[in-house]
Amino acid sequence: MDSNRDPFSPAQLGPVQLRNRVVKAATFEGMTGDQHVSDRLIEFHRQVAAGGVGMTTVAFLAVSPEGAATPNELVLTDGAVPRLRELAEVVHAEGAAVSAQIGHAGAVAASAGIRGVAPSPVFSPLAMKRTREVTPAEIERILDDFASGALRLKQAGFDAVEVHFGHGYLVSEFLSPKINNRRDQWGGSLENRARFAREVAKRVRDAVGPEMAILAKLNMDDGVPGGFWIDESIEVARMLERDGALDAIEPTCGSSLQNPMYLFRGEPPIAEMAESMPKAVALGAKLFGRFFLKTYPFEEGYLRTHARQLRAAIEMPIVLLGGISRRETIEQAMDDGFDFVAMGRALLREPGLINAMTKGESRESLCIHCNKCMASIYQGTHCVLVPEAERA
Ligand SMILES: Cc1cc2nc3c(=O)[nH]c(=O)nc-3n(C[C@H](O)[C@H](O)[C@H](O)COP(=O)(O)O)c2cc1C
Repeated sequence: MDSNRDPFSPAQLGPVQLRNRVVKAATFEGMTGDQHVSDRLIEFHRQVAAGGVGMTTVAFLAVSPEGAATPNELVLTDGAVPRLRELAEVVHAEGAAVSAQIGHAGAVAASAGIRGVAPSPVFSPLAMKRTREVTPAEIERILDDFASGALRLKQAGFDAVEVHFGHGYLVSEFLSPKINNRRDQWGGSLENRARFAREVAKRVRDAVGPEMAILAKLNMDDGVPGGFWIDESIEVARMLERDGALDAIEPTCGSSLQNPMYLFRGEPPIAEMAESMPKAVALGAKLFGRFFLKTYPFEEGYLRTHARQLRAAIEMPIVLLGGISRRETIEQAMDDGFDFVAMGRALLREPGLINAMTKGESRESLCIHCNKCMASIYQGTHCVLVPEAERA
């Protein structure tokens, strides 16, 4: 294999050198109760870093209080910086780089018991409420929140920031022709719907300067008829590339608001979800259950074919994500021209998987994609098959 494409050799992500091309994907850890960085969160990322990844991703950090999807998410305030710095130091001591995913949950935030905002009013099945339209003044304020949130991560010593442009969160709602019915400069044509994403990327770059890597997790397909789809996603990726603010795109799909299981594939853990959720949300889960949480067959590397369209369209580094659990899929990704891979569930199951793969001790994750980890996010995200004593 071309040594430049050896997934287990060092690689450059914008200004940051990673020891290999494997990134721990954002999996909300549910370890920021009382909105502070807990020792458990630090231990979670220490384990992932010690397990051999090039970079871990702390998730999900809301840029403003009304942008938090659940009440136990960290909001990126000045007060969060000292403990985030501790986390970054612990990860660095294990030889990995550290990133954090920042975003605004938009209509998905309605599940936090507040009335969420969206580009246009939309019913949130999570909150069983209709959201309200975000005003132009609020849009400006949220853009500033993205910039100041990213700057706080820089102050905390983070190497990278990942802006969330997917999953039916606010930026992805702006991109969606189905949800965004605005008639101002933020809605209508693709150029207008993409304006918010482009502004976020530019403002974050202006805030952090050239020393930090910026990734965008961008939807390729909302998984909803009439939603944002790959043809438009490619155009948006081209616009983002022309703007020059980003170092990489991580294509994703699905919508926490409209079709969550499209994002994960496999069986939805409905009973476990209803049991673990806060009461108001659990009621929604029970009522909507199977209707909202559809079943899609899980396939190894299930986003590869979509992502290859994007690969052919842009030069910018791309992080392949989605159902990666085998060494051969990682190698295939390199052969396809992807620059990095991101892994979520496989690393929840085995934080040490990359070390094991590098040493030749493992070729395939033990993750069976049962999705029961999804239901654990309210108590501290973990794989139910990992013995309690080994968990963070
Ligand atoms: C428990 C759990 C929590 C997740 N939380 C987030 C999140 O906070 N932000 C995000 O963009 N994606 C989140 N995801 C989605 C993953 O980042 C990833 O897109 C998805 O799991 C597919 O990758 P995988 O097959 O490697 O797990 C989460 C996934 C799981 C399983």
